[in-house]
Amino acid sequence: MRACRDNRAFLQRAVRHLARAGIRQFLDIGTGLPTMGAVHETAPGARVAYVDYDRTVVNHARALLATTPDVIAAEGDLRQPQAITADEAIRAHLNFSQPVGVLLVAVLHFITDAGQPHSIVRHLMDAVAPGSCLVVSHVTADHVSEQAAATGRGVYDGASAPVIPRTLAGFTGFFDGLKLAEPGVTAASDWHPGIAPAPPRAGGHPATYVYAGVATKDLPQAPAWPGKGPRTARPRDQARPRGTPVPVADGIASALT
Ligand SMILES: C[S@@+](CC[C@H](N)C(=O)[O-])C[C@H]1O[C@@H](n2cnc3c(N)ncnc32)[C@H](O)[C@@H]1O
Repeated sequence: MRACRDNRAFLQRAVRHLARAGIRQFLDIGTGLPTMGAVHETAPGARVAYVDYDRTVVNHARALLATTPDVIAAEGDLRQPQAITADEAIRAHLNFSQPVGVLLVAVLHFITDAGQPHSIVRHLMDAVAPGSCLVVSHVTADHVSEQAAATGRGVYDGASAPVIPRTLAGFTGFFDGLKLAEPGVTAASDWHPGIAPAPPRAGGHPATYVYAGVATKDLPQAPAWPGKGPRTARPRDQARPRGTPVPVADGIASALT
């Protein structure tokens, strides 16, 4: 339960962060049944496509979430990412030539290694514009005993899909080729937890059931995200004449400083 709450709170903080950084459209795959703090509520005015492979989830999302023109719900299977990025309704709703927040929150652990989850992520991020962001959370068994991990897996034995916990290295691999945003890979509860961050943990990596991270595609010279280190002006900022429009990706980079 605690892990579910931490995961959901991470999703909301990450979306708020991206919205503040200028991301105006979100592709949320593995949406889940509607609950409080949905993406379009957390980033009001953004265009959101909710995608899930469970028809019941999609029907609920259509009835309860897709109640404004900014929001759609579509059926799609993460195991076939090409079908999602080619889906006409999704492409009509989201402009893939502009930055997209790709949300894979508590869903990649339903993809087995044979399903090549890292290739799936690569396909999705290849399909979206530079400046797009990837948000991922994922179950891990790195910090529990083998017995506890087996009990956890058992919970999903009768479920439609098994849960595949991944190691820190396996999780971090989802961000290959992208620029990890500060503070990097953390426990879901420790990703920008606010003004009262959790104390550092012994052992150098977070003890948690859920890893979390956010990364940006192709943002050369992207500076650190909020709250880390002093702000330094970039030569490009200094060179831009007053009143000149800021390119979208550039705007995102500077909003994240
Ligand atoms: C644990 S819920 C996560 C909900 C939400 N993202 C959150 O973090 O609160 C996982 C959701 O992923 C969906 N899901 C699982 N495998 C999927 C797949 N291959 N393609 C699309 N959705 C999938 C399930 O139907 C379920 O709604």
